[in-house]
Parts: sequence; structure tokens; C-alpha cells
Amino acid sequence: MTERLQTPSFADQKTGWDLDAMNGGTRFVRACLRQPVDRTPVWFLRQAGRYMPEYQAVRRHHSLLEICKQPKLAAEVTITAAEKLDVDAAIIFADLLLPFECMGLDFEFQAGEGPVIHSPVRTADDVARLRTDRASELGYVAEAIARVVTHFKDHLGIIGFCGAPFTLASYMIEGGGSRNYIHTKTLMYRQPDAWRSLLDKLATVLRDFARQQVEAGADVIQVFDSWVGALSVEDYRDFVLPATKALIRDIQALGVPVIYFGVDTASLLPSMRETGADVLGLDWRTPLDTAWRTLDYACAVQGNLDPITLFAEPDLIRRRVHQILDQAGGRPGHIFNLGHGIVPNTPVENVQHVVRFVRERLSENRHA
Ligand code: CP3
Repeated sequence: MTERLQTPSFADQKTGWDLDAMNGGTRFVRACLRQPVDRTPVWFLRQAGRYMPEYQAVRRHHSLLEICKQPKLAAEVTITAAEKLDVDAAIIFADLLLPFECMGLDFEFQAGEGPVIHSPVRTADDVARLRTDRASELGYVAEAIARVVTHFKDHLGIIGFCGAPFTLASYMIEGGGSRNYIHTKTLMYRQPDAWRSLLDKLATVLRDFARQQVEAGADVIQVFDSWVGALSVEDYRDFVLPATKALIRDIQALGVPVIYFGVDTASLLPSMRETGADVLGLDWRTPLDTAWRTLDYACAVQGNLDPITLFAEPDLIRRRVHQILDQAGGRPGHIFNLGHGIVPNTPVENVQHVVRFVRERLSENRHA
């Protein structure tokens, strides 16, 4: 790995790791690299979303895209959520679909409908028209990251992110969310050259976008392949793995670890591992220990509490959190998270409880 990951700020340079000196950023990055930590780091997918009253208050005056494009606002939303929850990492407030605009595709978020892409990509000509030379227009995300880095210094891990080629291609082709991915798979099967060109074009833009975020100070990049679970193992390997692997390798070459995240991925995990990602995100359908064993413990793992558990009583939440920590068994390379994002109406105090429940293990371990 490059210098960035081996700065003298790491506590274990000479004398082994110093429990009291370890800050959240160090703890989080070390866990991504499967190095020992004082306690399991914790953060939440969608930690800055609509369940949070502070976000709703900002949203009353600004659209989602306005928040994303005004670095001051995006940074404020990111910082407020991370501080309120007292987590070990802050994910920059942005959206998966932002790169579409600079590729020449207009979209909007319609209330209750999710994203709508006005002219979906359906033909080889549509793919040929997509631009790959305007990623610099996404500079507002890097600017927001720089503000968050200035605020937290190295006390928290700062996560930049982008979509993965498959998940972004599926939005481009379907024109929005989808159940069966019929248009996506039709293009993939019937026009494999156009499909490959589309994924390569996306990877080109995403690589540049990730580079901007790393240069602005992101410690880690998470690549969201949220809907990859719609694919069979064969289709993933034939049509998706090569471009995804190339993207992840290129981001790692910038000197940061990569978290590769998908949902419904139990059967895909060994193939996803072949991307070389440092960390794989796990959903809650497979017990963490089973999933990690499937991966031969060859990478770090992030997860995997069912986000809907956050609607239960604290006692049950606590049991589930401890079960997951038991399954991880203190092995280096576990980052506590949900198996997917926090949903609207989740009680904020239950999210805060999870942080406390993860932290309880610190005192238990140290007094053991
Ligand atoms: O902590 C955070 O909340 C970080 C910010 C963040 C947003 N989108 C803001 C957002 C992140 C990490 C994303 C990623 C994203 N965007 C994903 C992958 C995440 C995952 O959970 O797998 C996806 C699939 C998208 C595309 C997208 N953006 C959809 C499908 C929607 C509609 C979702 C819905 O529930 O309505 C969005 C809108 C969106 N992006 C919202 C937020 C906070 C909610 C809408 C709003 O505030 O108006």
C-alpha cells in the first residue's frame, strides 16, 4: 500500500497499538486493513438521511440535489449526523446518481418515486453518446469532503463513495428503480459490446470521481453495488466482475482501502471477493460468521444488522448487536454496520443505542 496508509500517526509504529491513543479515524482505517483495533469501529449506511430531524430541517429549505451541490450544506449534514451518533466514520452526503449529469443524462428525484432518468439508455447509440470527459464538474463533492476533513481532522474516518458500474448501469437503462431488471439484462445479453462499453465508460468517470474525493482527503472509498444481488453468479462473472475489479484496483492504487457493498449477495460473495476489495459489505440474510468463513477470512467485512431491527425494543437490539460481535469473534477486520441503509422513521435513539452496545465491548474486553 502507499504512504497514505502508513503515516506515523498510526499508534503501533514502535510499541504495539496504544488503546488510549487510538481515535475513530485510525480505528476505522485499521479495521479496513484487518489490523488489530481497541474495539470494533461502527458507522451506519445512510446515517445522514431522512430519519434524522436535523436533515429534515435542512431539506425543508433545499432539494436533495441542492444539498449535494452546496459543499457547505453537504458538509453540515454529514458532520451533524456523525456527531449526533458519535460514530467512528462519516460518509460524505452525496448521491449515487450525481455522475449521470456530467455523462449527459438528466434525472430528478420525484417525491415518493425515487430517481427518474428522463431518457434511459437502451441502445448502442445511447451508450456511444455518453460523455466521459466532464467528471471535473463533480468537484462539489470533493469540496464538501475537504470541509468535513478540516472539521474532523483525523478523529473520524472520512468515507467518500461512488456507485459500482452494474448498479449505475441499471439505473441508466431502467430509468429508475426496478424489480426484474429486464431492460438491463436484455442489453447485457443481446448487446454485449454496448454493455461492456457502458460499464467501461462508467468506470472511467467513477475512477476520476473517486480520485477527486481521495485528493480532498477521503480515507476510504465505498463502492455501492446495491442491486448486484439481482444477478446469477455466472452473469456477475461474465458481465460485471471485470469492469468492477478494474475500478476497485484503480481506486486502491490511489492509496486508500475500498469497501465494496451489495445486498442479497450470499451466493456472489466469493466472486465479489475476486475484485480485491479490502472490505466486503454483508447484508443480514447470512450470519456474519458463515459469510466471513465463505470468504476464507481473506478480506475485512462490514455489517450486518438488519436495519429494521432498529424498530425493536433496545433489549432485543442489544442481543442482536452482541450476537454479531460474537460471530466476528474479535478477529481483526470487522466494521460494525447495518446490512443496508437506515430507513425513514427509524427512531434516532435506537441508532445511538447501537453505538453504545458496540462500545460496551471495549470495557468487557479490557476487563477480561
Ligand atoms: O448517510 C447518508 O445518507 C449519505 C447520503 C446518501 C444518499 N444517497 C442521499 C440520499 C448515500 C450514501 C446515497 C447512496 C445511494 N443513492 C444509493 C445506495 C445506497 C444503498 O442504500 O444501497 C442508491 C441506490 C441511491 C439512489 C437513490 N437516491 C435512491 C434510490 C433514492 C430514493 C430513496 C428513497 O428512499 O426515496 C435516493 C434519494 C436520496 N439520496 C435520499 C437521500 C437522503 C432521500 C431523498 C430525500 O432526501 O429527498
